[in-house]
Amino acid sequence: MKIAVTGKGGVGKTTLSALLAQAYADMDHQVLAVDADPSPCLAGALGFPEELRAKLHPISEMDDLIEERTGAKPGTIGGFFTINPRVDDIPERFSVVHRGVRLLEMGSVDIGGSGCICPESAMLKTLFTHLLLREEDVLIMDMYAGVESLGRATVDFVDAMLIVVEPTRRSLSTAMQIKKLANDIGLSRLWLIGNKVRNEEEETFLRTETPEVPVLGIMQANLAVQEADRLGIAVYDHVPELREAGFEIANNLSGKITQ
Ligand SMILES: Nc1ncnc2c1ncn2[C@@H]1O[C@H](COP(=O)(O)OP(=O)(O)OP(=O)(O)O)[C@@H](O)[C@H]1O
Ligand SMILES: [Mg+2]
Repeated sequence: MKIAVTGKGGVGKTTLSALLAQAYADMDHQVLAVDADPSPCLAGALGFPEELRAKLHPISEMDDLIEERTGAKPGTIGGFFTINPRVDDIPERFSVVHRGVRLLEMGSVDIGGSGCICPESAMLKTLFTHLLLREEDVLIMDMYAGVESLGRATVDFVDAMLIVVEPTRRSLSTAMQIKKLANDIGLSRLWLIGNKVRNEEEETFLRTETPEVPVLGIMQANLAVQEADRLGIAVYDHVPELREAGFEIANNLSGKITQ
């Protein structure tokens, strides 16, 4: 199961990605969490200790290795390169594991593009395939905010998309732009996740305003989420209500995708 988490800036993509990654790991799935935001913060949201974070190198620092393995410089479009480069030693060099979640940072690698058939996407694709061998393995990709990062190549990496929304028309409007793009590139498994919901009225608004994308889960607004960030603790550990919401969304998602 390979999921991209998208949505307007600041809606809670990283918070949801971290909750889902930890929930799946605690349900004994192999989890690969990918931070696709050029200014990464998923490690913090997952509560990775500083010494592990210091060891983490973003994939974008792998230029020489990409050239060595694929036979072409990153950024090359067209020409010849190996589409199934050797990747077995890469996880240890470019990712860290904490509490069952393997984390990988993309850095400035842009996998959206316009359907980039390029050495770096070949490398990433092979790497993900290498790491996610079984049906029940989970890839959670915390995407860059907005719609620009969602290009054709995204479908090579994910098979469903969660769009995080706040109960505001603006965030729903971004969600509808994302839906259109996703549909254009052939991705039709899309769900909304309502976040920072304060009352029933707001939940009803989210559930009724855009019937074309179903709501898969709701996360309540909770001041302890910011507190967790300030204290450097994962929301999963600090806010039981959100951990519960994370498990519920993870279960709903598994149910939908394995249907
Ligand atoms: N349920 C919630 N209740 C209260 N605050 C929340 C909730 N979820 C997220 N936040 C807060 O909203 C802010 C943005 O959250 P987060 O970083 O997860 O969003 P994002 O969509 O990943 O942002 P960006 O677009 O910058 O990557 C953070 O300060 C976070 O603490
Ligand atoms: Mg984020």
